[in-house]
Amino acid sequence: MTRNTNTVALVTGASRGIGAAIAERLARDGFTVVINYSGNAAPAEALARTIEEQGGRALTAQADVSDPQAVRGMFDAAEAAFGGVDVLVNNAGIMTLSPIADTDDATFDRQIAVNLKGTFNTLREAAGRLRDGGRIINFSSSVTGLLQPGYGVYAATKAAVEAMTPILAKELRGRAITVNAVAPGPTATDLFLNGKSPELVERLSKLAPLERLGQPEDIAASVAFLAGPDGAWINGQTLRANGGII
Ligand SMILES: NC(=O)c1ccc[n+]([C@@H]2O[C@H](COP(=O)([O-])OP(=O)(O)OC[C@H]3O[C@@H](n4cnc5c(N)ncnc54)[C@H](OP(=O)(O)O)[C@@H]3O)[C@@H](O)[C@H]2O)c1
Repeated sequence: MTRNTNTVALVTGASRGIGAAIAERLARDGFTVVINYSGNAAPAEALARTIEEQGGRALTAQADVSDPQAVRGMFDAAEAAFGGVDVLVNNAGIMTLSPIADTDDATFDRQIAVNLKGTFNTLREAAGRLRDGGRIINFSSSVTGLLQPGYGVYAATKAAVEAMTPILAKELRGRAITVNAVAPGPTATDLFLNGKSPELVERLSKLAPLERLGQPEDIAASVAFLAGPDGAWINGQTLRANGGII
């Protein structure tokens, strides 16, 4: 993508964690950013203000990605404000760990709704509405390779996202739009840290040969590569950004 503020990137789940780092990084790279969130308006608004104070352009957009109508409304708002969308980063996601035998229906349904249906909802909208030459970056996870106990439903949602990625890349033939996925390893955010003891976090942080947790900025750099000019020839791939854990 050419780097100017007419290039618009919509980042789902950008109020916190990896998504906030992506929005900040893409704004620094010259993209106008749409900061989507689901429940936490305050950090999303604060991020938009920071970006604008630094000379960038940003808009916040509340939408639960699992709701197709809300997703349509978010694209409408982005187009009304900026004339179109060029980059979609499907970062919004949730994770509830439990062995398959102990997983209740609500836990299964919600992870499918947000991680899989949510990604489908934005992909369907983007397929019809992204400007030619655009980029789509989905979010998988390195657990699709690690396959540890307790990750069954979450890993299944991410494996499904990985499967849709090259299929949409092929369906968008002729539009010069690339579709890729980033699959982070353990990254220091609420999603990873909540509910884990310091000992477990320490152990997991040493699994990768680089012997540390990923930081949101590490993942944002991978997204910036795929969204920027140097990523132009990468299409239909899943990039494991994980310090070598798998
Ligand atoms: N952290 C890791 O170790 C790791 C590893 C591999 C993959 N990932 C993936 O990376 C992505 C980002 O994860 P993270 O660690 O940054 O998570 P996080 O810190 O928990 O942040 C999640 C973000 O997603 C938003 N969100 C949640 N449900 C949503 C919904 N239904 N609609 C719209 N937005 C929603 C949240 O918005 P609110 O603030 O409004 O709730 C928040 O901005 C996820 O797809 C995750 O599966 C993370």
